[in-house]
Amino acid sequence: MDTRTTPLTRDITLSVNGTDHAIRVDTRMTLLDALRDKLGLTGSKKGCDQGQCGACTIHVEGERHLACLTLTVAVEGLHITTVEGLAEGESLHPMQQAFIDHDAFQCGYCTSGQIMSAIACVREGHAGSDEDIREYMSGNLCRCAAYPNIVAAVNQAKNEMERG
Ligand code: FES
Ligand code: FES
Repeated sequence: MDTRTTPLTRDITLSVNGTDHAIRVDTRMTLLDALRDKLGLTGSKKGCDQGQCGACTIHVEGERHLACLTLTVAVEGLHITTVEGLAEGESLHPMQQAFIDHDAFQCGYCTSGQIMSAIACVREGHAGSDEDIREYMSGNLCRCAAYPNIVAAVNQAKNEMERG
């Protein structure tokens, strides 16, 4: 580890997918860059890097956030979940399985963000109808226009998540 510190660096502990990581970060570093470049968790994608596409969506304390607009130092001590933390061993999260079952992607670049947003959407109670799903998933863009399949996937997973 680089032992030099500057007024712009801080040593922090980041809790990601149930594991604590001691890292040194520039105080201006976004959570997206920290996840990808410091921790090697590249499932969260950088599409626009300015809050407009949703490709970087992750969960902080179970709620969806845009990692490209979140400062790493601001989430120290909070529980962060990325797409890498959804599966339990060989068992995919119901939302991951539903995206496969409904062919809800083409290139896949938006998919991790779609899945993280979709899980939060169901938990928020915003997946009551196709119209609601489209509205509350509208921050997640898909250049491949897989939208009808994504709505179908959310509906399937919602039923499984609600059955618990
Ligand atoms: S990369 Fe974060 S919203 Fe586009
Ligand atoms: S699957 Fe290609 S951008 Fe959504």
